[in-house]
Amino acid sequence: MDRLDKFLCDSGAGTRSQVKAILKAGRVNVDGKPEKDGSRKIDPQTQTVTLDGEVLGGKRRVVVMLNKPAGFVTATEDARQKTVMELLPKEWAHQDLRPVGRLDKETEGLLLFTNDGDLLHRLISPKQEVPKVYYARHEGQAGEEDVAAFAAGLTLGDGTACRPAVLEPMGPGESLITVCEGKYHQVRRMMASRNMAVTYLERRQEGSLTLGDLPRGKARELLPEEIGLLENR
Ligand code: URA
Repeated sequence: MDRLDKFLCDSGAGTRSQVKAILKAGRVNVDGKPEKDGSRKIDPQTQTVTLDGEVLGGKRRVVVMLNKPAGFVTATEDARQKTVMELLPKEWAHQDLRPVGRLDKETEGLLLFTNDGDLLHRLISPKQEVPKVYYARHEGQAGEEDVAAFAAGLTLGDGTACRPAVLEPMGPGESLITVCEGKYHQVRRMMASRNMAVTYLERRQEGSLTLGDLPRGKARELLPEEIGLLENR
């Protein structure tokens, strides 16, 4: 059961104060009867709520892209450390957003959030093989043998087998790495297994989504067509 005013906000009817005015103006019906009391409890599974005669679908799907700075852990809460949730604007606080996968505390770059559990699971499932592109600064210089080892699928120090990945040397101590899975510290461990310890890591792309000109530390909601790109890869 949801409060009617919260349901209206979550459905995208407006902000809390707009929803108050909408209710007062008698524009909302519950199961065909006008309802002005925002505190009334409703069951979105079994009851029909309309605004100006249009049926509302309940929680609006929200997908957000953050350009994560270093120093924040990917978690919804943490007793001691700053979390990525603190970087999201307050207007999304009631949207139940969860990070899609994780970036290490010191890793920067593209991190998605959504309130759509199905989309979240599809994006982090290794079966879906969403390619993620990372820029790394690292010790040493990547050479042809390293490129071939990444392409063949690396075995990490603890015996973990990685899927084939793409290593593109960019210059001394700089590479792009594309992986289709998200094991713990994956890129750092892959590079370390080739004696190229990572000193800086940034995720630049997920599927066909890039950070564009989104400044570090800022977040924005994805457009419907961008969500479509993620879903129909
Ligand atoms: N691989 C890593 O090692 N760290 C990240 O944050 C992401 C991928």
